[in-house]
Amino acid sequence: MIKKVEVASPADVEKADAIAIGLATYKGAGMPTVIKYVESMAKVPLKGKVGTAFGSYGWSGEGPLVVTKMLSGYGMNVIEPSLRIKRIPEEEGLEECRKLGKLIADKLKK
Ligand SMILES: Cc1cc2nc3c(=O)[nH]c(=O)nc-3n(C[C@H](O)[C@H](O)[C@H](O)COP(=O)(O)O)c2cc1C
Repeated sequence: MIKKVEVASPADVEKADAIAIGLATYKGAGMPTVIKYVESMAKVPLKGKVGTAFGSYGWSGEGPLVVTKMLSGYGMNVIEPSLRIKRIPEEEGLEECRKLGKLIADKLKK
């Protein structure tokens, strides 16, 4: 299931086996709407679920790193390093995105 943070609730992640948070970097941090949602996830038991963060950035790319740290703090089985792509991904970047999807699926099979 893919959901925008604006309409997602913490209950959505409660049902999930794996959670991938996508966000851009703004002003040296993660996009505030996404960070707020990830904070709200703290209400839910997440220990052992597969988690990752990914996103596009312009020059520094802190957003996915911040979220990955938060997911680790929740005791999730985190995939690192976070996938970060400068600006809009081209074919090579898209291939990295597909690989991340496969990695998540492989982790769930184990
Ligand atoms: C106001 C503003 C602030 C930004 N600040 C950062 C930043 O601190 N570091 C960075 O790596 N990219 C920064 N960016 C670039 C965005 O992360 C990048 O353009 C990203 O691809 C935007 O994705 P979106 O258009 O899908 O939201 C900023 C962009 C804008 C418009």
